[in-house]
Amino acid sequence: MQAPARSLRVLFVAAEMTPLVKVGGLADVVAALPQALVERGHEVRVLLPAYGAHMTGGSTRLMSMTMSDGHTSLAELRRPDLPCPVWLFESPAFAGRGHHPYSRPDGTAWPDDARAFGEFGRVAAGIAAGTVLPDWQPDIVHCHDWHTGLAPAWMRLEPNAAASVFTIHNLAFTGRFHPRVLAELGLPESLNRPDMLEFHGDVAFIKGGLCCADELTTVSPRYAQEILTPEFGNGLEGLLRHRRERLTGILNGIDSRLWNPASDPLIEHAFDDTDLTGKSRERVRLLRRWGVAATEDEAVLGWVGRLTRQKGADLLLDALPELFQRPLRLVVLGSGEPELEQAVAAAAKRWPGRFLAHSRFDEALAHGVYAGADMLAMPSRFEPCGLSQLYAMRYGTVPVTTAVGGLADTVFDADAIADAIADALGLASFNATGFLMARATVPDLIETVDRALTWYRDQRRWQALMRNTMGRDSSWTTAVVAYEKVYESALARRGRGLHDGNPEMNA
Ligand code: GLC
Repeated sequence: MQAPARSLRVLFVAAEMTPLVKVGGLADVVAALPQALVERGHEVRVLLPAYGAHMTGGSTRLMSMTMSDGHTSLAELRRPDLPCPVWLFESPAFAGRGHHPYSRPDGTAWPDDARAFGEFGRVAAGIAAGTVLPDWQPDIVHCHDWHTGLAPAWMRLEPNAAASVFTIHNLAFTGRFHPRVLAELGLPESLNRPDMLEFHGDVAFIKGGLCCADELTTVSPRYAQEILTPEFGNGLEGLLRHRRERLTGILNGIDSRLWNPASDPLIEHAFDDTDLTGKSRERVRLLRRWGVAATEDEAVLGWVGRLTRQKGADLLLDALPELFQRPLRLVVLGSGEPELEQAVAAAAKRWPGRFLAHSRFDEALAHGVYAGADMLAMPSRFEPCGLSQLYAMRYGTVPVTTAVGGLADTVFDADAIADAIADALGLASFNATGFLMARATVPDLIETVDRALTWYRDQRRWQALMRNTMGRDSSWTTAVVAYEKVYESALARRGRGLHDGNPEMNA
């Protein structure tokens, strides 16, 4: 692999990071990408809000910072399960949030979000400017999603700030608040303009990132194209088109050590693509959890992920009466929107033994479903990257999914490839990794499950497909080099070289 041009100091700023706090895929990326950067010789720190006492352990050091309006502190956390030191921003607004950073127990958003994430952005900008921590100034501040959008805006007000990169993991969440929050946070009223934070009479924190960051990325090449259109742009497509020169789509990787069926401690029967016996045993083990015996002729269709409309959970539920006329069982692991959770509970009652659900997120069971299912259902309406399909493929579980965003970039339809290439050449196709539906609708989902079941009935062909999915390289190797290029462009745009005193890379 090509060596990095030089070693950079990179500050990640995000609201989630596995294993400290996880709501969705963002958390996994904020753990795995720093790990990959550290392995390339970069010096990385992650800035996270301190949501509560569960984010401790290991060795903790308090670092005090001087902000314009007084002192505040960061707790530096070092633990063997973290890729680099993590800086926890302590503030009363975050302290009581416990395990859920975004919503209160009743499901509504925390009322002090603007202030909490606004101050979080300001601390990041202070570190970026080298004004609050005397001995560590980053070259790059890499921000993720709307929670961190004010950091690049604030950095624009600082003459010596690091270069900034803003990654869009999901454009559907914009962080919209009343414009009065600008004054409350001490930001100039001049930011309340359409070419800055203003958004339909409100301010949207994500626009701080989209308008002010030196470089923008999103988590797949296809989504980078899609968000330039009204269908996927969420009203931000005009702005993104304007900045398209600075927007790069980089496909997420996964931590292939954590997600490896040959050595995964969270499953009981190890397997790899040379011997799939362990996978059949995992299938038996998975169904036994619900007291169900596995049969060969019935396929196990899994779901692992948030129960949201984005993910198409409602489509899957609406398709059930039809789907259960086919020889299959469904295993659903996930929580999410309250009405979808209720619908899942109702389906489990209506189809006992066939619709098997578990509503609390459970990491070990997630591994169990990826290992034990035959197929993964992921009928997303949009999907910036999607990680579940990548995890599933590692375990030989074949995705049945929509041709959008990162799904279209990572899943290659067995029939399309067989038709277009293999049939023409008279060869069997060995590139296929799954089944793609053109649109996220109930009829498309049923039709696509039917195609998958046709393949499934021919176990010889199915096993070839499983081996293809397992052979896909989903490591960070390519992505990390692409991020290094983006960091270098951001530095070039800022006209800044390396931070003084940053050691040269020993390549
Ligand atoms: C968000 C997106 C998902 C992506 C993840 C990590 O959760 O919805 O598609 O994989 O972020 O980038």
